[in-house]
Amino acid sequence: MKINVHYSSQHLDELYFTGKTSVVIDVLRATTVIVTALNNGAREIIPVSTVDFAMKVSGNAFSGQTLLGGERNTKKVEGFNLGNSPLEYTPEVVAGKSIILYTTNGSKAIVKAKFSENLFICAFNNLPAIAKELERLNKEVEIICAGSNGNFNLEDVICAGRLIKELQLITETEIDDSGRACLVLNKSFGKSIAKMLKETEHGKLLIENGFGNDIKECAKFGTTDTIPYYISGVIKKMDSGIAPDNVELKTS
Ligand code: MLT
Repeated sequence: MKINVHYSSQHLDELYFTGKTSVVIDVLRATTVIVTALNNGAREIIPVSTVDFAMKVSGNAFSGQTLLGGERNTKKVEGFNLGNSPLEYTPEVVAGKSIILYTTNGSKAIVKAKFSENLFICAFNNLPAIAKELERLNKEVEIICAGSNGNFNLEDVICAGRLIKELQLITETEIDDSGRACLVLNKSFGKSIAKMLKETEHGKLLIENGFGNDIKECAKFGTTDTIPYYISGVIKKMDSGIAPDNVELKTS
């Protein structure tokens, strides 16, 4: 399996992803939130790249069934129902709901990769399930680290390294230079995920802004088999064992 890693998607054209099999990672915190919300029964996540568009989509949506979630500078956006803390996305709050999600980097990276043939959402909590699904698909993979405003960030790159390591246990891989660097960084910093996350720039900012408990949540490894899969503008939970070529998604 050939694996290519991008440390940000900001410099890439959206057409680059046409026909590709892609995986978006934004450990702190957007992709952890998406996995958590779908695992807790959310009907779907609608990722958007601007707050204005989030407002517009929610204006057209069925009220009561739709929640606006996300952040600006780590904090809940004025007028939104939820922020970007995975701890907010409990079954009581999200079950059966459509969630329009805007975040600084994560939701934008997903929208950027929207022309992918297969588009998966990965965090540490569902990483082994994503690895198994990629191995089953057996296609060339683009791993997209959401990064920070167009720049490299350590937590996404280490998660990418761990995903590649997991894939290497179950299949033969051919890895680009960026991916090889991810493996080395995962080896150096990835032993304690929680410690690594606490010491990153974004981890420190989250702690400073009162979101220290989110770090523990984002550090959980392999706690769910939920595979978020993007199709036609929404992210849904993929039913296990169903090939994306013939994808069936949970609609209730
Ligand atoms: C992002 O998309 O940049 C993050 O999810 C920011 C955050 O920690 O809320």
